[in-house]
Amino acid sequence: MDFKNNRTFMKSGFDLPEREFISDQERGLPPPSVEKAMDSNLRIIELPVVDKNIMKHSDLYDCLNNRRSRRNYKDLPITLEELSFLLWSTQGVQKMIPAYKNTGHITLRPVPSAGGRHAYETYLAVNNVAGLEKGIYIYLPLAHKLAFYHSVDNLPDKLIYAYGGENYQEEAMWLGRAPVVFLWSCIPYRGEWRYHGEAHRLMLLDIGHICQNLYLASEGIGCGTCAIAGYVQKAFDELLGIDGENEYVVYVSAVGKVE
Ligand SMILES: Cc1cc2nc3c(=O)[nH]c(=O)nc-3n(C[C@H](O)[C@H](O)[C@H](O)COP(=O)(O)O)c2cc1C
Repeated sequence: MDFKNNRTFMKSGFDLPEREFISDQERGLPPPSVEKAMDSNLRIIELPVVDKNIMKHSDLYDCLNNRRSRRNYKDLPITLEELSFLLWSTQGVQKMIPAYKNTGHITLRPVPSAGGRHAYETYLAVNNVAGLEKGIYIYLPLAHKLAFYHSVDNLPDKLIYAYGGENYQEEAMWLGRAPVVFLWSCIPYRGEWRYHGEAHRLMLLDIGHICQNLYLASEGIGCGTCAIAGYVQKAFDELLGIDGENEYVVYVSAVGKVE
């Protein structure tokens, strides 16, 4: 098999004349919104104010040194305070820079993003979070709130299938026991609007930062996480009710309390 195209995709092409582009931003087209438009009928859940006293291990060295991918979780709920902290650490908005000329609004968050595009939405598959009904939620970063999206019959089974497919159900069982699963979907036009065909590489780099913050923030509060990148694409997209074209899941990470 020839991997040439895939290798080229990993490389920067900003200086290459053959990859020169005029982006929609340069054409003067309006910027995409920084947050997905929400059905106003969705139930909104307030999140506790993020408080740094939640940290059990606030030493960065310890968090880096202890970080591991953790798949064994205690049979205990995640609290809303913990969830609020993890959402803020990964996608919370610290500052909004107002639109200037045709930049669109830019949000600053605990994670960096190429050109401040922040092309990801955060969904949660909630199995065991104190005070939350089981089901699928979406994070509203501008307001730091959750919206309840929909309930799912046999959510653990659906997660196990979406991760393991037909052939690896046994290996995927641990995901069904996770109290909460973060699912990041990409809205590609947010990046394409500014960076055209260079956007996709940048957006993949961005998601690594997001998940790394989840790893470190989880370590800091006595939780653990494990990233998942190999899964049944269609099953996760369908679980969230997204179209798989203009929005699709790119990365998943389970969270629970650990020893
Ligand atoms: C991009 C990426 C994708 C991963 N995908 C999976 C996965 O699909 N399933 C899984 O169990 N672990 C997955 N992991 C976790 C790795 O297997 C884990 O990081 C590796 O074994 C090293 O362990 P450590 O994270 O504890 O250092 C992934 C990690 C990364 C960074």
